[in-house]
Amino acid sequence: MVRSMRAIYRTSHEAVDVAVLEANGIHYRHLGTDPALFQPVLDELKGKRGYGTQDEVTLSPQTPNLPVVLKKFDDEHAHDEDEVRFVLAGAGVFDIRANDERWLRIVVEPGDLIVVPAGKHHRFELTEASTIHCVRLFKDPSGWVPRYRSESPPG
Ligand code: LAC
Ligand code: NI
Repeated sequence: MVRSMRAIYRTSHEAVDVAVLEANGIHYRHLGTDPALFQPVLDELKGKRGYGTQDEVTLSPQTPNLPVVLKKFDDEHAHDEDEVRFVLAGAGVFDIRANDERWLRIVVEPGDLIVVPAGKHHRFELTEASTIHCVRLFKDPSGWVPRYRSESPPG
């Protein structure tokens, strides 16, 4: 389960480790894709943070209106609820504002868990493979309404 982090400061390309992510309020862990191993961790998180619901979502070239869906994620935004994603297949790229407003870039791949806390500005895109299949944990889907940032400082 030990492997190199796929996180950098987007502009300087300086590598970022888990401790830096945690210091910026971002929880990241590689759990692997064996349900017997990842589900207990997700269950613990659900109990600890009060996420009552687990579902799954897939984005792929077959998704109706994929470009429109992706456009919603591409502009910098935040949510009133944590964004919790566990990747089952495919990949994605999160850009998340560090506390000092620099962009942190995190590539998520199968077996990766990421928690973007409520109120933390971020954006999301797919990789060239254009596919991701994720587990989502949440309290109330209304908390996902994106609140777009009016002015994005340079990263
Ligand atoms: C979202 C992402 C992907 O808002 O940022 O669901
Ligand atoms: Ni989001």
